[in-house]
Parts: sequence; structure tokens; C-alpha cells
Amino acid sequence: MKILVTGAAGFIGFHLVKRLLERGDEVVGIDNINDYYPVSLKYARLAECGIAEEKIVQGHTVVSSKYEHYRFMRVDIEDKEAVRRLFETESFDAIMNLAAQAGVRYSIENPFAYIQSNIVGFLNLLEAARAYPVRHFVYASSSSVYGGNTKVPFSEDDRVDNPVSLYAATKKSNELMAHVYSKLYGIPTTGLRFFTVYGPWGRPDMAPMLFTKAIMAGEPIKVFNNGDLSRDFTYIDDIVEGVLRVIDKAPVSEIPADVYNIGCGHPMQLMDFIHTLEDAIGRKAEMVMLPMQKGDVYTTYADTEKLERVMGYKARTSLKEGISEFVKWYKGYFEK
Ligand SMILES: NC(=O)c1ccc[n+]([C@@H]2O[C@H](COP(=O)([O-])OP(=O)(O)OC[C@H]3O[C@@H](n4cnc5c(N)ncnc54)[C@H](O)[C@@H]3O)[C@@H](O)[C@H]2O)c1
Repeated sequence: MKILVTGAAGFIGFHLVKRLLERGDEVVGIDNINDYYPVSLKYARLAECGIAEEKIVQGHTVVSSKYEHYRFMRVDIEDKEAVRRLFETESFDAIMNLAAQAGVRYSIENPFAYIQSNIVGFLNLLEAARAYPVRHFVYASSSSVYGGNTKVPFSEDDRVDNPVSLYAATKKSNELMAHVYSKLYGIPTTGLRFFTVYGPWGRPDMAPMLFTKAIMAGEPIKVFNNGDLSRDFTYIDDIVEGVLRVIDKAPVSEIPADVYNIGCGHPMQLMDFIHTLEDAIGRKAEMVMLPMQKGDVYTTYADTEKLERVMGYKARTSLKEGISEFVKWYKGYFEK
């Protein structure tokens, strides 16, 4: 299959691209390499895939020096013309849209970035898929669409009309927009509600990396809601395996639009998470207890029954194993 992966320099995109290439797919990766977090990490991920920073020029294709079937282009999905040109020149079997302005907290600070990337950019991709049809349009949604839901675990059948951040609202909007394109134009679409993803090459704005950095430097970590929060931390390899299964199985219903949770299904109390991290690092955390933050939710907890039933897959990595892999990578990457 020939697959377009957007957000290919990002955390999940990087891992997905590698797995697709390793199983023999042809991949075109795009990313605008924005500076929401240090671009050095994005370039390092690309370099791991054989894409050298100095070869990346806007709009030009770089062929991987490591993988014969990988090409990368610096493209912004907000650029309608560039996206159209890409679809005109390539013929994709499937799209995995991971490009987005991620992060709940930053959506309080810079709401416009979310509308531009997650709504305008998303529409550009849908329009391109309408003009140049694909077999399957898969996109990242988020567990944040469950917002203030108090019923757990969160099921795909739950109502999701109570978002608590603009980020969540854009992800829910993506699900609605995709549904419309499936209904009107018959494009098979699947939205994936990822639950707090962590692992090697992870995001510097998320707790595992923020906490590890602070603990190793002997600096205090910020613990919100006095630690009374829980998250369904999901290891990156489990996410990628779920994504692969979904890409290969496009919905075939009358309106071919579907949504899946991809999560571990075992929420962890934040304090237990911190203790697991302390054990892996071999050092105690100094904690500053703070109140709940705007836009945050108390818990996330994936009901994974649908993914298991339809795709035959369930996440299998324990937090202890996953954190140990993450800390090993962190030390290797930052202490070299
Ligand atoms: N990591 C998680 O825990 C998590 C949880 C739920 C949902 N998601 C979603 O999964 C997707 C991937 O997340 P991630 O953790 O890999 O984030 P990431 O920020 O590491 O990756 C996203 C990539 O998209 C690129 N990008 C952003 N806007 C773009 C644009 N307009 N054009 C082209 N590229 C653009 C960024 O440069 C970045 O490299 C996102 O849609 C995110 O919202 C992630």
C-alpha cells in the first residue's frame, strides 16, 4: 500500500512510519516541522528514518537513505494548494493524518493554532481525498473528546458533547467533518481516539518527559489537582499496532465512518505513575502540589472492547515495562 502519513516528524508519526516501512508499505511523510516543541527532536526522529535535516527544503521531496520506500516533504496541511498538488502528483491508497496542534494546555494560550491546523488543515485533507479518492482516510482524534464525562470506562457509544478544551472541540469537530465526507462522498474514514501516549522519542510537553527531565535534574515537578488525577497511559508500540490494524480495515457500512478508542484500558493514578517513574530513574521526585488546571480532565479510561472485537487487538505493555523503555531511551538521547 502507498500511505500518506502527516505529522511524520512527530512522536506517533515517527513510530508509525518506521513500522509501515518495516512491513513493506510505501510511505510519503509530510510535516511542517513547527516549533511547538524543540525542532531538534523532530529532526532527530527524521534522521532516524534516513531523512537528513540539510536535505529538507520546503516543497521538495527527500528520499530516505535508510528506507528505499520512504520519501519526506516539508508541507503544511494548512496550505490548500500544496496539499492539492501533493495528491495530484501521488496516488495514495490510504492517509493517516497525525498532523495537528496537539496539547490541551497550549489551547488556552494559543487557540488560533488549533483552528488552523486541526480544522483548516483537516478540511484541506478531506477535500484532497474527495478530489483524489483514497481507500481509507484515518485520522487522530483524542480521548479528550470525552471531556467531562463521569461514566467510565469511556466507550465509543458515549455522548461526547461536553469538551473542556478547544483542543478537544477540534478533535470532536474532525469526527463530525469526517462523518460528513463519508456520508456525502463515500470516503471511508476512521477516527482514532488515542489515550495519553508515551514511550521513546515522546513529546517534551507531556508528563513522562517533563517529569523525567525534572527528576533527573533534581528539580521539582508540578503535580496538578494535588495528584488526584488518573490517566490511561498507553505505550507507543501498542498505539502503532492498533493503527496498523485499523488502516488495513476500512469501514464498509452505508455511511463508511467509524471511530475507535486506542488505549491501554488500565487507568493509573498520577501518584502511582510518578512512583513508577522514580523507580525506573532511581531517584525520588520533589513535588509541588498545585490545583486543577483549566482544560484538564480528572480521568481518562478507555473501553477497548470495540478495538478488540473488530480488530482483534488489545494493548499489552504494562506501565512498568513501557516506562523502563522510555527512561532507557531518555538517558541515551539526552546524555550522549
Ligand atoms: N501523544 C498523545 O498522547 C496523543 C493523544 C491523543 C491524540 N493525539 C493526536 O495524535 C496526533 C499525533 O500526536 P503526537 O503526540 O505525535 O504529536 P506531535 O506534536 O509530536 O506530532 C504532530 C506533528 O504534526 C506536525 N504538524 C502540526 N501542524 C501541522 C501542519 N499544519 N502541517 C503539517 N504538519 C503539522 C508537527 O510539526 C508535529 O511534528 C495528533 O493529532 C494529536 O492530537 C496524541
